[in-house]
Amino acid sequence: MVIEKIKESRFTPDVFDITTFGTAFADHMLLSWYKDGKWSEPIIKPYGKLDFTPAISVGHYGQGIFEGMKAYKGETGDVYLFRPDKNLERLNKSAERLDMPQIPEEIFMDGLKALIDLDRQWVPSTYGMSLYLRPVMFATEEAITARSSNEYLFAILTAVAPNYYNKPLSVKVADRYSRAANGGVGFAKAAGNYAGSFYPTHLAREEGYDQVIWTDDATHTFIEEAGTMNVFVRINDKLITAPTSERILDGVTRRSMIELAKAEGIDVEVRKVTVEEMHTAHKNGQLKEVFGVGTAVVVNNYVAVGYASERLELEDLPETESYGKILKKKLVDLQMGISEDPFGWRL
Ligand code: COI
Repeated sequence: MVIEKIKESRFTPDVFDITTFGTAFADHMLLSWYKDGKWSEPIIKPYGKLDFTPAISVGHYGQGIFEGMKAYKGETGDVYLFRPDKNLERLNKSAERLDMPQIPEEIFMDGLKALIDLDRQWVPSTYGMSLYLRPVMFATEEAITARSSNEYLFAILTAVAPNYYNKPLSVKVADRYSRAANGGVGFAKAAGNYAGSFYPTHLAREEGYDQVIWTDDATHTFIEEAGTMNVFVRINDKLITAPTSERILDGVTRRSMIELAKAEGIDVEVRKVTVEEMHTAHKNGQLKEVFGVGTAVVVNNYVAVGYASERLELEDLPETESYGKILKKKLVDLQMGISEDPFGWRL
């Protein structure tokens, strides 16, 4: 790996005061180019602009995928990654589905480690804050032929991560638009999945909601995922989340929450949950909480769920009673090195 260090760091401590996610990029980035069937030796260099023409293939046909991860700094100053193997696994599943080349483990893992080592001072140590890591791969061939590109860029960017959403969200259940369909790319972290969600989210915002809870495309009966999150529904003391499928992203935070909940003795059910079940539970006072989980968001306990013309308001449970809040603390404590790591998730 080639390392070209920045001449003078752009770091200033006030970068940790930012409130917008994904805008304060650290000093360095990693790049590796795929051409003639192989990846170039990765280079770490100062974060900055690249040279492309408007004929870049990804700009026309959307052959692009990414991952979301975080680096955390513990009290001792050690920097940790959280289950990076799962992100590499998913990235390569996404790559396969989008007919893109696989990323070798050493480019991904050694690249992450070298980058974090170099930009260690950009990792905040404030509880709950982190440096967001964004591995991304996209088609770079200068060609507007509609086919898989012959050339790609794999990059890792990093940016200081405050709260992704700075408030508890209200979410609208989708009854017209869909995020994914069987046989499609819903399980992949494909750029186009996000692009396709922006317009329905825009409409939800006009109705006073922050995000959309996606339902199955065929019947809009089952709860699938929300915006940038997997969804958990708590009915009485049962915590329910949809099984992953061709349409649902296999979230690393989702998996971890299921295991943490089990370890806490919480009754977790991984099964299909219908919008109607949630609605009925709300009517009967049994819908205790609904929350979204994801790398960027961590855990967000929703304040309301919009269902057709109804707005189901949710109680703001105290820290000691909310499964979402209890599990969030367990997760962040583990990620930041505050608690033991019986699962071997911290690296
Ligand atoms: C993540 O949680 O890391 C995501 O990928 C969501 C992202 C779209 C901000």
